[in-house]
Order: sequence, then structure tokens, then C-alpha cells
Amino acid sequence: MIKIENVSYTYQSKYQTMKAVKNATYSFEPGVMYAITGRSGSGKSTLLSLLAGLDLPTSGTICVDGEDIRSINRDVYRMKKASMIYQAFHLFPLLTVMENVTFPMEIQKLPGNQAKERAASLLEKVGLKEDTWRKFPHMLSGGEQQRAAVARAVAAGGRIILADEPTGNLDSENEEVIIELLKGLAHEDGFVVIVVTHNDTVAEAADAVLKMSDGELSEVRNDCKK
Ligand SMILES: Nc1ncnc2c1ncn2[C@@H]1O[C@H](COP(=O)(O)OP(=O)(O)OP(=O)(O)O)[C@@H](O)[C@H]1O
Ligand SMILES: [Mg+2]
Repeated sequence: MIKIENVSYTYQSKYQTMKAVKNATYSFEPGVMYAITGRSGSGKSTLLSLLAGLDLPTSGTICVDGEDIRSINRDVYRMKKASMIYQAFHLFPLLTVMENVTFPMEIQKLPGNQAKERAASLLEKVGLKEDTWRKFPHMLSGGEQQRAAVARAVAAGGRIILADEPTGNLDSENEEVIIELLKGLAHEDGFVVIVVTHNDTVAEAADAVLKMSDGELSEVRNDCKK
């Protein structure tokens, strides 16, 4: 579903160039939860932003459902196909939890009542009770905010979830909840789930583990290939 071939990315500034991703080649399949591990500065977030279409590779190709990411409308790709989840949740602070989740559907012009209905079922799915739906993000715990962020990511309607340290700000109980939600999206709903993590528990929960090492991507384990 997402195939990357010889992908490299170089940050170029006036004073220095930094090759953050070096000739990465891999195929990410639907129904699988991937963890990407590696030391700080090894290029994990850079790779994720390439997969999200936020940047284009300096060289190499990224194909999503057989289409080169260079030739598709990347705004639409980000809006409809691939959603990001961040360590610091990144919910819209001035929108309620419900409005955060209906937002991606409103952009896609889904009628308001349908958007609300779908948002309600997604919020239930991630385990957020109705009394949180009218609250603003800052009134929720970190674990609740991240559940809302998962619901919003799914609301966009795509089948690709890219998460950068999604459990980095959570205690182990909430970490568990988020891992299970992401795993469920892969196993039950057929999403491609790619999680960048420093956390061994998250990596152990994943079906496949990749490692970034000084910009180089390698596979450590893949239970789906057994
Ligand atoms: N905007 C930028 N301009 C220049 N260099 C950058 C930029 N962003 C990242 N880098 C460099 O690229 C390399 C890879 O960074 P990246 O953020 O992808 O690492 P990471 O594996 O996500 O690290 P961490 O675990 O700390 O989040 C690092 O050496 C970093 O300093
Ligand atoms: Mg990072």
C-alpha cells in the first residue's frame, strides 16, 4: 500500500547539508502495525513526514496505492488518506472534542448531522464518554486527549495512520489504551499504522519493527512474514 524505494532526504541550509534519510526501501502493508525505533536524530520523524506527504524525497520514490506521491495532490492525500498523530496531541484548542472530530469531515463537506453521528460513534469507539464531548482539549487528561486525537485521525476517512511518539506523554495505563486502539485499527479495520517510538512496550506490541540508524532503515522483525 505504501511502497518506498531508495528514498533519501537531505536538509539543506546555507551552512550545512544533513542527509537525514538514506536510500530507504520498504513496503508497508494494510492490516499491519509497524513500529519505527532508533536513536534521537536518526531520521524517524523525517521519514514520517515524507510518508505523510509533508515533504518530498530528495531522491527515490514513494508510492501510495500504486501512485507516486509526486504526482498526486498532497493536500488531498493528507486530508483524505493519511492522518498524523503527535506526541503532544495537537488538538485544536478552541474547538470542543466533538468539533475536533467533526472538523475533518466538515472539510470534506459531509453534512453536519452525519458528521456528528460518525464523530459520536468514533468517540465511543475510543472510549470517550459523552460528558467529554463538549469540553475543550485542555479540560481533558493527556490520555483522553490522545484518544480524541485518534478519533480525529480516523474521522478523516483515510486508511493510513502515522503516529510520532503517540504515547510519549502518557502513563503506562493510557499508553496501553492507545496501543490497543492503534492495533485495532490495523487488525480490525485494515489500516496501515506506522508508529515512531522510543518505547519498548510499543515496539513489542507492533507486528513489525523497523529501525532507523543514522538515516538507514532496516527491518528488525516482521511477524507477518512468518
Ligand atoms: N528542519 C531541519 N533542518 C535541518 N536539519 C534537520 C531539520 N529537522 C531535522 N534535522 C536533522 O535531521 C536529522 C534527523 O532528524 P529527525 O527529526 O528525523 O530525527 P528523529 O529520529 O525523529 O529524532 P528524535 O527521536 O529526537 O525525534 C537530525 O540530525 C536533525 O538534526
Ligand atoms: Mg522525532
